[in-house]
Amino acid sequence: MKRLITLKVNNNTYEVAVKPNQTLADVIRCDLRLTGTKKGCETGECGACAVILDGRPVNSCLVLALQANGSDILTVEGMETEKGLHPLQEAFVRHGAIQCGFCTPGMLLSAKSLLDEKSAPSEVEIRTAISGNLCRCTGYQKIVEAVQSVSENSEGQIGGE
Ligand code: FES
Ligand code: FES
Repeated sequence: MKRLITLKVNNNTYEVAVKPNQTLADVIRCDLRLTGTKKGCETGECGACAVILDGRPVNSCLVLALQANGSDILTVEGMETEKGLHPLQEAFVRHGAIQCGFCTPGMLLSAKSLLDEKSAPSEVEIRTAISGNLCRCTGYQKIVEAVQSVSENSEGQIGGE
């Protein structure tokens, strides 16, 4: 039997009827139609489904929608504002940190979560923060460089090179 839950996603409030076994990833993609969140392994290994849930990055394939009732969620669609793309999104483009793009939403959210906590992370901290996000294309170096360019360790300004 379905139960009604409330989710705040990218500052919009949704009421959704969910099945007990339905994952948050499924609700985000299928019910809310926010398909920027990807599903890869569905076993918590690849990070493609990462979202920020109440301030923390989680693999949404491992969270039951019922568990997320009342939560505040950020997906990749919510990173862009009326001012334009988030500086991390711009940096990924500028640094060639995107190839097929399948890992990119999860990467961006893991990186954002890190920078929200620590504005000037070391390279090791960046690599650790994205260690749960698998990328088959880029070799990670360009992703790390993109995140570094947005951090306060960067010699340029926020979002600059
Ligand atoms: S789809 Fe969730 S971690 Fe791979
Ligand atoms: S850009 Fe293809 S998996 Fe990362």
